[in-house]
Amino acid sequence: MKTKTSFVCQNCGFHSPKWLGRCPNCGEWNTLIEEIEEEAAVEFSFPPSEPVLYEEIKEAKRERIKSGIEELNSVLGGGIVLGSLVLIGGEPGIGKSTLLLQVSRDFAVQGKKVLYVSGEESLEQIKIRGERLGIQDGKLYLLAETNLERIITHAGKLNPQIFVLDSVQTIFSSKLSSAPGTISQVREVTNQVFRFAKKNHIPSFLIGHITKEGSLAGPKSLEHMVDVVLYFEGERDHSHRVLRALKNRFGPVSELAIFEMGSRGLQPVSNPSAFFLKERPTEEAGSVVVCTIKGSRPLLAEIQALVSSTLFAGNPRRMTIGLDHFRAAMLLAIVERKLGFSFAGEDIYINVAGGLTLDEPATDLAVIMAVVSCLKNKVIPPDLIVFGEVGLSGEIRSVGHPLARLKEAHALGFKTVILPQGNLSQLEKEDIPDIKLEGVQNIKQTLEILF
Ligand code: TYD
Ligand code: MG
Repeated sequence: MKTKTSFVCQNCGFHSPKWLGRCPNCGEWNTLIEEIEEEAAVEFSFPPSEPVLYEEIKEAKRERIKSGIEELNSVLGGGIVLGSLVLIGGEPGIGKSTLLLQVSRDFAVQGKKVLYVSGEESLEQIKIRGERLGIQDGKLYLLAETNLERIITHAGKLNPQIFVLDSVQTIFSSKLSSAPGTISQVREVTNQVFRFAKKNHIPSFLIGHITKEGSLAGPKSLEHMVDVVLYFEGERDHSHRVLRALKNRFGPVSELAIFEMGSRGLQPVSNPSAFFLKERPTEEAGSVVVCTIKGSRPLLAEIQALVSSTLFAGNPRRMTIGLDHFRAAMLLAIVERKLGFSFAGEDIYINVAGGLTLDEPATDLAVIMAVVSCLKNKVIPPDLIVFGEVGLSGEIRSVGHPLARLKEAHALGFKTVILPQGNLSQLEKEDIPDIKLEGVQNIKQTLEILF
């Protein structure tokens, strides 16, 4: 039985029986998307709802089950809620299938029945990966299938306790004539899996590929349809991966977990600060350690700067890796204006070591210190750490979570912290760990203390 579909303009709502490149009603290009008509008639198997008096609503008890990976549980807000649908997005090759196969393995070891459906790989290919991950016995069922209706039928019969679908771009519903991976298909797939998860109270994971630009038919358009959106990120040339929540109907979105991809799958990194500092040079100018906050956790990272005379006069280079380019340009302008340096004939490179991306203004002062340290060829003491936001007149402004940053610095053996005077004045004496603190109010004063 073929469902009736039509193409609907996403801009103005115009209906057309066939696909058109341009909407004849509003004139927009590429806005017509196939949709199922009479959606309401499709096997709606929820019990009919009724209005309920607010006071009579019982508080929902959210039952969660915990995966074997503690870091994943905390990103989810303490385990996965029964009946919730979690979308895991990330670039191809980043490790999404690996992560979920590990999760499936651990659930199977706990004695739970798991169904892992792959529309991307054959059973043999999955088994090869499974061998690397050391999968042995347990009730882990694999299904290689791309037809959504068949998948749902199988899942309904098997009635697993965990359901994984890899990936939303390769599965298609036979109700639609569009190709897999198109917006209509990924929406329909997500929609049906969502209903399946809710109806049967099965926690479900959906994998979605996204490109760096956040691809067109990618999970971006699905974010509002699912309960939880996790992003899995990292640089291909580096072994670490960051998993963070972008949306969570059942928990905070601030948590984040760091993993390292090894020869036997993903291993959680239990001490991220030590991990990112382990190859730091301690006797080179241009390197400084900053204490930043990622999610709700403090993280120490190394910022490096290199200043060298430019080959092409009049067109010096400004390169940043892992930092916002415009913010760095602004900081360089502040240094020129307030400290009297001139970068006119210099190429400047600023890099966050280890492939991390830092997007917090609290790193400002560290960027400036790294650049000046390189320019003056003066080493910053290796046991010194810094944080603080810099304003346009060179003033140092307070940042959030100062105590958490100090504790992390202390835990990793740092002896001195340069921090905003405003933060220092807020802190309660008795809370401060045993570490030397230097409160600063502007960048000039900071450099006087340092050099
Ligand atoms: P994969 O999970 O297939 O990525 P995705 O599903 O996001 O596309 O992971 C692919 C990469 O991970 C691949 O380059 C191989 C590497 N890998 C390891 O380094 N170690 C391992 O144990 C496994 C299973 C994969
Ligand atoms: Mg994959």
